[in-house]
Amino acid sequence: MEKLQKALSKARRDRGGASAGTPRRRTPKTLSPAAPALIRPFPPVWDELQPIEPNPDTLTAHRVITLNAQAEANPFDILRTKIFLLMRQNGWTRLGITSPDKGCGKTTISCNLAVGFSRQQEVRSMLFDLDFRRPGIASIFEHRPEHDVRALLTGEVSAAEQMVRLRTNVAISMSKNPVSDPTQILLSQKAVSVMDDIQKEFEPDIMIYDLPPMLVTDDARAVLKNVDCALIISRAEHTKVSQLDVCEREVAEHTNVLGVVLNSCRHLESTEEYYGDYA
Ligand SMILES: Nc1ncnc2c1ncn2[C@@H]1O[C@H](COP(=O)(O)OP(=O)(O)OP(=O)(O)O)[C@@H](O)[C@H]1O
Ligand SMILES: [Mg+2]
Repeated sequence: MEKLQKALSKARRDRGGASAGTPRRRTPKTLSPAAPALIRPFPPVWDELQPIEPNPDTLTAHRVITLNAQAEANPFDILRTKIFLLMRQNGWTRLGITSPDKGCGKTTISCNLAVGFSRQQEVRSMLFDLDFRRPGIASIFEHRPEHDVRALLTGEVSAAEQMVRLRTNVAISMSKNPVSDPTQILLSQKAVSVMDDIQKEFEPDIMIYDLPPMLVTDDARAVLKNVDCALIISRAEHTKVSQLDVCEREVAEHTNVLGVVLNSCRHLESTEEYYGDYA
């Protein structure tokens, strides 16, 4: 991990670019800065969402382990809290989660964050599967939505019809069918205004977008211009530093880089050993 950090720092120095973790303060793309997390009444639209009760064993089988407090969930809980505080400090609401290449763990991490947020009753969060070509969230929750995210962003159905609710405070938008050429939908003015309307209507503290990888198609770029910040997921023994460098540079052209997560790193102490006392 130290090697990766050194290599990344060198790559950043060489290009004189922005450093991850010290985001530049750009104006929020959101309609209004996120209000501090207070207990405030939920807008009535939250009650219209169909509730889901995912099977904890299914979530665990997909490596989503944040449904209940436990030692193994601590790294995700720490990440969740860091993200939340940094975003609130900057008045940011929309977070994109991307990676250089496919299979780095974006969907797993997005779901762990959203499910982890469901344990913070005062925080309202929303999770959107915006990886139209390879939607992954629905299978993690074992939910077959009647309408896909595509229908939401084209205005064919309302958020209340398309989204579901986990516990009281997490709204999830997922798809069962892939879309072969999604860039035009993601780039459309209609999609932008639908997201603006959802944000106005639901008043979320955080909106998490599970995005496609950066270096494979243009889809993620189409969305990044409308988020406040992005988290880049790299995968140990899979992501090359050169790919990570290009990805970070490209993301930084569109939005604030919140940080880089090194996923699936097997050289740390065991979670039990490290966090056991804090469960
Ligand atoms: N930390 C981890 N340790 C072991 N396996 C993991 C870890 N994180 C994710 N995985 C597994 O790796 C696979 C890919 O993860 P995931 O679908 O979250 O990646 P992704 O970046 O969303 O992929 P895609 O680009 O295809 O959308 C899944 O089978 C997931 O369960
Ligand atoms: Mg995915």
